[in-house]
Formats: sequence, C-alpha cells, structure tokens
Amino acid sequence: MTDSGSGATALRSSYLGVLTEADVGRSLRLAGWLHRRRDLGGLLFLDLRDRSGLLQVSVGPDWTEPASLAVADTLGHEDVVAVEGEVVARPDPNPEMATGAVELRAVKVERLNAAATPAIPVYRGPEDELPSEERRLKHRVLDLRRPELQENLALRHRLILAVRNYMDSVGFVEVETPILTKPTPEGARDFVVPSSEHPGEFFALPQSPQIYKQILMVAGFDRYFQIARCFRDEALRADRQLEFTQIDVEASFVGVDDILTWMEGLMARLASVGGVEAPLPFPRMTWDQAMDRYGSDRPDLRWELEITDFTATLDGLDFRVTQSAIDAGGRVRGFRLPGGSSLSRKQIEAIEEQAKSAGAPGLLWAKRTDDGGSGPLSRFLSDDHWSAMGAEVDDLFLLAAGPDRVTSPALDAVRAAAIAALDLPRVREHAWLWVTDFPVFEIDDDGSLAPNHHPFVQPSAGHLDTLESDPEGARGEAYDLVYDGTELGSGSIRIHDADLQRRIFHLLGLGDHEIEEKFGFLLTALAAGAPPHGGVAFGMDRIVQRFAGASSLRDVIAFPKTTAARALFEGAPVPLSPGDLADLGLALRAPPVPVPESE
Ligand code: AMO
Repeated sequence: MTDSGSGATALRSSYLGVLTEADVGRSLRLAGWLHRRRDLGGLLFLDLRDRSGLLQVSVGPDWTEPASLAVADTLGHEDVVAVEGEVVARPDPNPEMATGAVELRAVKVERLNAAATPAIPVYRGPEDELPSEERRLKHRVLDLRRPELQENLALRHRLILAVRNYMDSVGFVEVETPILTKPTPEGARDFVVPSSEHPGEFFALPQSPQIYKQILMVAGFDRYFQIARCFRDEALRADRQLEFTQIDVEASFVGVDDILTWMEGLMARLASVGGVEAPLPFPRMTWDQAMDRYGSDRPDLRWELEITDFTATLDGLDFRVTQSAIDAGGRVRGFRLPGGSSLSRKQIEAIEEQAKSAGAPGLLWAKRTDDGGSGPLSRFLSDDHWSAMGAEVDDLFLLAAGPDRVTSPALDAVRAAAIAALDLPRVREHAWLWVTDFPVFEIDDDGSLAPNHHPFVQPSAGHLDTLESDPEGARGEAYDLVYDGTELGSGSIRIHDADLQRRIFHLLGLGDHEIEEKFGFLLTALAAGAPPHGGVAFGMDRIVQRFAGASSLRDVIAFPKTTAARALFEGAPVPLSPGDLADLGLALRAPPVPVPESE
C-alpha cells in the first residue's frame, strides 16, 4: 500500500527511522542499506538505514529462517537489504538512537542488491573524518548518503516550497522563461549552445531571466516570479557556481518600497523555515553611507565597528603620507579600536597585509599608551591630536590615507581582520540590511563606463539631467539585500522608457547598430507600452547555504561543480569528437587541453 508519510510502498511497510515503542508487536517488511553490522557469534545485529534514519535488526537462529541466516552472514556494507519480522522492545535500549527503544526481530532476510565496496567510507557519525572534498565529489553517490547533505537538500526543498507559497499568496504567478536564449548581460561570460539547425549560430544559456521578466511586465503579467536556473561562465569562488538558482521577481506599477516590503515578507517566511531570526523591517542604508561607514557595499553588521574620518583632525600634520593624500583630495579614515594595543606588531602587520591585498599601499597605525604613544604614526601626533581623535589609553588606531576608491576596500579588509584578531563580540546573531541607491555606473580600469548592476537600472530622478556630465555621480533606484556580510540578492526599478534606455546604452559606449543587434527586442518591447516596473533576484543557493550553516554552496547543491569548473562524478565537460564538431559546423583552433587525470 502506497502512502505519503510513513514510507509504506509495495516493497515495504514503513520507513525505518519512524518506528517507536508504539509499533511493538507489528509484523513488518522493511528495507534499506546495511549501515553497520555487529556479529556477536550466533547473534547478528544489522543497522539498516534509509532517508528517515536507522533501525536495528536482530538475526538469530531462534527466530530467523535458516536460509535467511545464511544470507545475513554474507551481507556487506551498503548492500540493499529487505527484512521481515516483528517489532520488539529492545532488551538493551540505546538512547543515542531515535529508534533505540525497538528492533526488528527478522524472520526473513533478503539481499535486494549487492553493493560494491564503497570507494570512500560511507559516513557513520560525527567522529568520522571526512575524505577530501575532491574525493567526496568524485564519489558523490556515496557522499550524498551523508545525513548532513540529505538534510541540506531537504531544507532546500522546504525553502523553495515556502517561496512558491508566499509568492502565490501575494499574487505573483510563476512563469518559465527559456533556457536557450539570446545573451543577457549580467557581467559574466555566456555559456553558448551551438545550433545544428543553424550552423555558425549560437544560443546563450541565461545568466538571469532579466530581459524576459521585463518583457513579461510589458505583456501585462503584473507580478511574476520564477525559481530560475542561471548560468554564468565565471571564475568560481566559495559563493559562486557555474549554474545556480535564483528566486527571480518582477512587478509592475511599483516603487522601491513595494519590492522591499514584499521581499522582507518573503525573507521572514524563509527565515522561519530556516530557524533564523529576521526582525522586520530590515534596516536600510544608502550605498554612499555603507561605503563611508564600512568601506563595503555589503557590510557585516553583526559587528558594530565603524570607520571614522580623521581627515580634519590630521590635516596639517607634518607627515608626508597623510598630507599628500589630503592635498590630493583624499581622506584619512580608519578605526579606533579600544583595547587594541594588546595586538603585537606582528599581528598588526598581518592586518596590514590584508589592507595591501585589498589594494592599499600600506596601513598607518598608532597605539595610545600611558606615556604617549607608539607605532609609526604616533610620533607625528600631539596631545591635541590624540584628544581630537578621542583616544584613550590602550586604544589602537588603524588608518588608511588616500582616495576613497582605494581606502574603502582596504578598510573593509582591515575591519574583518581586526574583528578576528581582537575577537570582538557580535552585537547580533544575524544581520539583515538593504543597501540602496547604488551608483548606476562603475569606471573600468581603462576609464570606460560599465553598468554597476546591469544596464536596465532606473537612474534616480535627481540624476537624470547629469547622466552625461557626471556619470560617476549618478545614483540609481537599485538595492541589494545583505545578510551577515553576504549579498543574498540584488534588484532595481527598471528603465521603462525606450529613449532613456537608448541613452544609457550610448553612455556605455554602444553604437546604434550594436544596440539594435543586442537589445532590439527589449527596445521593441519597451516601445510597446511598458509600465513602470522593477524587481529583484535572490541567490537560492546562498540562502540555503546560510540557513543550513554550510561552509560551501557545494554542500547545498546535489551535483555541484568544483572550483576548477568541473563536474567530477559524471566527468564533465568533455571534448567533442571530430564528427560531432563537424555536425555542428565547428572546428577547434587548437588541440583540446588534455583532461587532468583523476583517480
Ligand atoms: P545578480 O547578478 O546580482 O542580479 O544576481 C542576483 C543574486 O544571484 C546570486 N548569484 C549567484 N549565486 C551563486 N553563484 C553565482 N555565480 C551567482 N551569481 C549571482 C547572488 C546575487 O545576489 N537580474 C539581476 C537581478 C535583478 O536586477 O532583478 C541579477 O541577476 O545571491
């Protein structure tokens, strides 16, 4: 009998991990993997495992059929086994096991399928040392048997279900957008798919459904969402995968507040599923404030430490480093760390290394001591300076001088390093934050303009007239959601006016021909009567990872790619045979790079 909750199917009468004393006396047929076996000479204990947990099965000559005794003797780890018998109370209950009060006294034991000797040990408990991640990914079928991964994927399922229920409850309709698409610009390289029907022509896999969701708004769908798979050919880091899932949202006739309020409701719902606090409303901070106070557009507000601007206090100091920075229009900013003088020179130098890796030429530091100060900056400081800086004995000052463009990322790195070095206490368990009013453009290394998010962000009303004269100063109706210092999502109100959209493309250096070729379909849509609209997308994988407390995105994705951009279990990507290439009208310019050997 098939049933939804207890696990009963044609081949078994119950899940294993759900059995309790209330089941004593029941005759059941059960099945699972052989997790562990203990042979007490004559008596055999088999721990069977399924997704619900473990159950002890006892096999003995007094109650097990002789043929089954012989089968049980030959069972190996991870064999798939079925047993039939009666649930009895365990004479020696095991309080460590959820089903530890009972066992199945097996009359019949059957091997449904033999398992090859596992290539990596199948997880047995927290005391196990895990094999390297590479080996676990290579043998993913075995690693996925680990309860932690099963729980992560079950949490993922519950979160996705909650997204669908919540979005439905506020009137959003899920619409699927294509996977074979025209390139959408999200700043990464596209994965392209050759078309054998049209040799020499390619589809792109979507980096996001951005343009399609905007077109749906023009078409009148009003409130759209999608659990959308996205593909980006970019360098992988711990928080990035080649393919990942977004909660993608768009709505018409909305302002920033509408989107943020709906999404706070969504996050509160997801947080309750994930067992995380999400007090509403989330605090908001403009991009300029975030950069000024934390040096980052995704500050981790679990710690209070903020940047102070010491420019006015230190202007006029007889110190070339600070003065030349100030004279060039830069600032001297940094942190006052009460009690920070406990850090050794070595520790401070390690923090300075972080500042340097983030692009700063160096870090200025000074300790306030009983008899004055120490550290390279201190000999330039008078008592007046110290008091204007609010210094108290045992304070450490860590400062960076220069243009904000350089000092902000450096101070962001210094902040994290100082928090870790001093083991500063958190002020809250989890920190949610909207960062709003992002710059519309960023300046590339070659001085050209690039979109800060993507080219569809609506510039704020006050900046429309100065887009050409001061593009760097332009702020847009764009926002990010930050959780414990991670960007969970990003969105904006969009440009709905075709002429303004053309202006932005021109500012980005696109000619009319290129605009038509790449974005003609969007402009046609915008010209067809586009309502004001806006939206957002959240990284589903990142949300699950954060709520599950997993250290990597790979732990919340069933079949992830490695940081070397490979799928290890199935072995992808693979070279195409010359014949397949020819069918697609493709030829390789260079011989393929050999695939590295793995075990
Ligand atoms: P964006 O590119 O910021 O915006 O992506 C939105 C969110 O998706 C997640 N994300 C990723 N997660 C895992 N691996 C990746 N490689 C990866 N790249 C992004 C992040 C990010 O915040 N179309 C716009 C959204 C919009 O404007 O509505 C977009 O895709 O959590």
